[in-house]
Amino acid sequence: MKARFIELWQNVKREGVQDLLNWLETTDFYTAPCSTKYHLSREGGLLEHSLNVFDCLAKREAVNIESATITALSHDFCKINFYTQEMRNVKENGVWVQKPFYTIKDQFPYGHGEKSALLLNRYVKLKTSEFMAIRWHMGGFTPGIQDYSMIQAMGEAFRKYPLAVLLHMADLEATYILENQERMGTF
Ligand SMILES: [Fe+2]
Ligand SMILES: [Fe+2]
Repeated sequence: MKARFIELWQNVKREGVQDLLNWLETTDFYTAPCSTKYHLSREGGLLEHSLNVFDCLAKREAVNIESATITALSHDFCKINFYTQEMRNVKENGVWVQKPFYTIKDQFPYGHGEKSALLLNRYVKLKTSEFMAIRWHMGGFTPGIQDYSMIQAMGEAFRKYPLAVLLHMADLEATYILENQERMGTF
């Protein structure tokens, strides 16, 4: 998965890609989980999810491949250096054993999509449509979206930037269909 992730950045003909990849090596990006207990809550989960979102987004013919690569692969950079593992006692066959579990310890508490966009833009300069897509990729799950002015801003971004709508849809498809362990068979 790591080799494929690095290979995909070849789609991006912009300055800073190598600096970005060098920075990722200094972080937990390639080993981090994607969540504490929901989708892909396991080592490498964040990397796997990023690739799944790319696959869901890139299959749309109208999408520019460079923008799809940039936004899908980095939309959850906010989860870099974000989780930690702790131990807890769990009873197994009547015996208490120590088991590791993931918990949140955000080393740079700056939000979700807005944080991903900021981290990426330190290395690779983003287009406005890419900023919008990454910032609003959570759609109706965006933290703080209960605020009416936030809903208006997101609606405006979705109207102006189709990439933002499509990245959100790709994130939904990856999270709730591809990565949903309980889903079985056809539907
Ligand atoms: Fe996200
Ligand atoms: Fe995501």
